Amino acid sequence: MKKFARIIGTGSYLPPKVVTNHDLEKTLDTNDEWIVARTGISERRIVEEEGTCDLAVEASNNALEMAGIDANELDLIILATTTPDKIFPATATMLQNQIGAICPAFDLQAVCAGFVFAMTTAQQYIENGGAKKVLVVGSETMSRLVDQNDRSTAILFGDGAGAIVLSADDETGILHSKICSDGRYLSSLQVSNNRINELGFIQMSGNEVFKIAVNRLSNLAETTLQECDMTTEDLTWMVPHQANIRIITAVAKRIKLPMEKVVLTLDKHGNTSAASIPLALDVAVRDGRIKKGDKLMLEGIGGGFSWGGLLVEY
Ligand code: UT7
Repeated sequence: MKKFARIIGTGSYLPPKVVTNHDLEKTLDTNDEWIVARTGISERRIVEEEGTCDLAVEASNNALEMAGIDANELDLIILATTTPDKIFPATATMLQNQIGAICPAFDLQAVCAGFVFAMTTAQQYIENGGAKKVLVVGSETMSRLVDQNDRSTAILFGDGAGAIVLSADDETGILHSKICSDGRYLSSLQVSNNRINELGFIQMSGNEVFKIAVNRLSNLAETTLQECDMTTEDLTWMVPHQANIRIITAVAKRIKLPMEKVVLTLDKHGNTSAASIPLALDVAVRDGRIKKGDKLMLEGIGGGFSWGGLLVEY
């Protein structure tokens, strides 16, 4: 019998330190009005002492608690991150040690699309019978990759983590997934270092990323709906990667989705890369907006470029 990968728990965690647009005005040639109008972001959280694993542990424990399972019941852990605490071992193994899980655990790097890539990978394991319970985490400390003197990127990124527990289910769960990469755009969004032992910061051609993001995400949403024999009206919620309100609005307009059906957290979180979708999902599950049976579209794009989307029955 076909198995589905069903979400049975969500969790998230944000470091306590808040950095507002007004805080950034003190060190950068920028202002709150510009940042809000061009991005939709008002504040973001930034780590002080915490690492990517620390954030992941809190989010994972919250998700496991909602799922009602112990970490030792997990068959697999996939941690999507661009900001691992060390080159090795994988931050996923540091996480499993902290939460007390004994199972395969690995990191997956697809930048802002990392969570969708990780969910798609977990879905394959579950549908093929290779795992029954999988923890999928997006955890990032992007502030470590940002040049705090570069106003074009310092205003955008924040730190945080989100986690999902997937369980093999006979009836429903992830209905469709698609991931894509196109390496021709490498230089539009990358870190500046050429070697792992050199310090590097994010370099971004914002305008180019913006246009490609709107184009690719709109096309992906349309294709996904067609392949699922659904229309925009069948969607209960869109939970997009939280990069820029103008990207999200443009995609919603292209697929004729009312903004009331879009979960937005970027005003308070900024762009948390691989963490942004599970963070937004957890917020909307816990405040009661997302309910059992809802049809969700999750989409993200980032460096590479890599992008992907999921259609999920919650
Ligand atoms: O997760 C995926 C990765 N990233 C993204 O999805 C980001 C995609 N791109 C974007 O979100 C937008 O391109 C940005 C928010 C980064 C920039 O917005 P924009 O509307 O594309 O602005 P722009 O780069 O065209 O700059 C417009 C003006 C420029 O001044 P001039 O040349 O018109 O005088 C910039 O120098 O705004 C200036 N500017 C700023 N002004 C105040 C750029 N950054 C700032 C700033 N504060 N922080």
